[in-house]
Amino acid sequence: MAGLETNRIGQNVIAYDEVVSTQPLAHEAAAKGAVEGTIVLAELQTGGKGRLGRPWHSPKGTGIWMSLIIRPSIPLPKTPQMTLLTAVAVAKTIREETGLPVKIKWPNDIFIGDKKVCGILTELNAESDRVNYLVIGIGLNANSLESDFPSELAQIVTSLRIESGESLKRVTFIQRLCRIFEEEYDHYLRAGFERVKQEWENHSYTIGKWVTLQTISQQLEGRAVGLDEEGVLMVEDQAGQIHKVYSADVNYRAN
Ligand code: BTN
Repeated sequence: MAGLETNRIGQNVIAYDEVVSTQPLAHEAAAKGAVEGTIVLAELQTGGKGRLGRPWHSPKGTGIWMSLIIRPSIPLPKTPQMTLLTAVAVAKTIREETGLPVKIKWPNDIFIGDKKVCGILTELNAESDRVNYLVIGIGLNANSLESDFPSELAQIVTSLRIESGESLKRVTFIQRLCRIFEEEYDHYLRAGFERVKQEWENHSYTIGKWVTLQTISQQLEGRAVGLDEEGVLMVEDQAGQIHKVYSADVNYRAN
């Protein structure tokens, strides 16, 4: 990609017109030894994958549908930090590129107002207790119009174009995202999670809100108070007890 200001993120691009999903293609490439920073891009996904087995609507030409391969030398429990780092990088890129007031909804949804504009899906390949590689899928609604979304989605999702009124140059966006991601990632590898944690909290839609969480084992209600040093969400219930939430579906209450 001409104009790319990185050392490795985005230096190797595998681009397709139409795929089922970029995620398995990135896994295949990674298993065959694709270098760290390789990105797999598609114009159209016919079977885009969201979190929790949900489909991801990925029509032709309107979005950024990409999977990034990284090979951090970190233990397995730190993997969620990479998702939080990615959310920070996407949020910063959207702000720099469009000036729109984006927020991150825990763990990894990017919102403008009350509507989702981007989702992140991190998949892991590990050997014993170390990460071998990660495939980080990023789905960004860039240039979709309201009429491009099925009616059941139109109320809950948006695009950068709908919000800004301007069409987004997707290549420029991807280049900036690669630069910002690399900067965050290099800092993380050198200095640890603290900066990502701060930036995530600064962009957070979740911190300070009353939330109802459905985890695998329990339903929990309380106020989201922050991330711990591992990147786990801390929720304080009405009795003042702090709960650590690793993975859950979150609903928000007005206060
Ligand atoms: C979510 O549920 O919020 C995560 C959505 C992730 C979608 C992206 S689009 C590129 C990559 N390929 C996929 O099939 N999914 C991810």
